[in-house]
Amino acid sequence: VSAEPLRTPGMRRRLLGLRPRMLAALLLTSAVTLGVAALLLFSPLEERLRSDGESAVFSAINSTRPEFEEVKLDPRSGKPEEGELAQTTRLLRRRSGGQVTVLDESLATVYSPARLDLDVPDFYTQARRALDTHRRVSTLLGEQLTTAQPTHIGAGGARYVVIVTRRLEYVSSAVRVVQNAFLVAAGAGLAIALVLGFWLTRTLLRRLERLHDSTQELIRNGLDAPPPADEHRDEIGDLARAFANMQARLHHQEQARRAFVATASHELRTPLASLDGTLELLADDLHPERLDVEDARERIRRAREQSRRLSNLASDLLDLSRLDAEVRLRTEPVELVELCRAVGAEFERRAADAKVAVQVGRAAEQCWALADPGALARIVRILLDNALGVAPEGSSVALQAGAADGRAQLLVCDSGPGVPPEDRERIFERFQRGSVTGGRAGFGLGLAIGRELAERMDGSLELLDRTGDAGACFAVRLPRAQVEEEPMTEGGR
Ligand SMILES: Nc1ncnc2c1ncn2[C@@H]1O[C@H](COP(=O)(O)OP(=O)(O)OP(=O)(O)O)[C@@H](O)[C@H]1O
Ligand SMILES: [Mg+2]
Repeated sequence: VSAEPLRTPGMRRRLLGLRPRMLAALLLTSAVTLGVAALLLFSPLEERLRSDGESAVFSAINSTRPEFEEVKLDPRSGKPEEGELAQTTRLLRRRSGGQVTVLDESLATVYSPARLDLDVPDFYTQARRALDTHRRVSTLLGEQLTTAQPTHIGAGGARYVVIVTRRLEYVSSAVRVVQNAFLVAAGAGLAIALVLGFWLTRTLLRRLERLHDSTQELIRNGLDAPPPADEHRDEIGDLARAFANMQARLHHQEQARRAFVATASHELRTPLASLDGTLELLADDLHPERLDVEDARERIRRAREQSRRLSNLASDLLDLSRLDAEVRLRTEPVELVELCRAVGAEFERRAADAKVAVQVGRAAEQCWALADPGALARIVRILLDNALGVAPEGSSVALQAGAADGRAQLLVCDSGPGVPPEDRERIFERFQRGSVTGGRAGFGLGLAIGRELAERMDGSLELLDRTGDAGACFAVRLPRAQVEEEPMTEGGR
């Protein structure tokens, strides 16, 4: 077996190899998952924290309204009393967590925290709008929440605006904490994904490499190379097992082919050598000074026998090579009784010489099989040839057509020594002869050809189990053909 060696892995293969691709896919999936999770988490979380802060301030302002209305007014200035106002704003400061400023209707400061470190550009505009619209005006610039609430202070019903400013810095710090935790988790996740991916691809690639090495080994050393072994119950294991199976089958076929060629050439050499020897002796017999016509006749008879054997072997080998090349056989209705009679007639002379009778069973009706007539006749010839070889003098060989299990059946039975149990399957193999040969020369090809022909016709050739009965009985079974019954010919009755 010769094959081009596989190219060594180049840069391209390394970049487009399984490992980088699988790792890239793993990383990409993890990164996309984390990115989407971040997108879905951070922005809503920030939004939610902000609106929570806003609502806390709103509800603090609302709940402090009654206290503002109860603040006493300075009877002289008509302005809220400083002490009480300070107390109420402190209350609001506590409740809202922000700084509180109070302006009057002209936006003059009535109360302001000690240190108002605000940088709200439209602080007053917002206060004005709240006073003009009589509604709360709230803005959130970054983290800076400013809420201006028009409020009545004191019993006089004078209008003021209470402004709460608060930095919602806890929003960004909370988001940062979550972000950090997320980043750590993502990093750990990615690292685990990478390690797992690396480990997984490494083991998978190792196994694939071993499989690859096995194929290289096969290319270098042929089918005798050790088959790949991978015991894992997964796809690569399946591939390795399929590969080992294929190798085993090819190995078996290759061995059978080698054995066939070796045996065939050996079998050819032996009769050729003896033919050569016979012809040499014949030449001696025909020497003008020592002419021996009787001996020459005997040698010619032997040479003819040997050449017949050779031609039989040649035709057997041709049959086998045709079978191996899967030449198609015909499929047509064949009448079995008629066929048995025709083949039986061919063996009349030989049967008479062996003092054996060939009897074609008296079938009650015609029996049609779907087969190739030539191939079926060949099978019957093979069986009859074997049977006549072992049948004792004075016995008979029976050919019987019939049906069994819905199939057409043809039996060839003799009353010879039979086939010993240990030979029963072996005799159907190529070049395998049994221990009973009746002293005949042969190549052990007949039954192998017969069985393969029968199987090609969707049939079978088997040795029937006839314990107790003497002799061997071979059965050819074939699909039945549906043919309109014709009256049997005279001879059939
Ligand atoms: N009717 C039978 N009775 C007993 N043994 C048989 C019978 N038919 C076949 N065998 C055994 O089966 C073996 C194989 O038969 P097969 O026809 O394949 O080869 P062969 O007759 O030995 O040689 P070939 O047919 O190639 O000339 C025979 O050698 C014989 O031992
Ligand atoms: Mg034979």
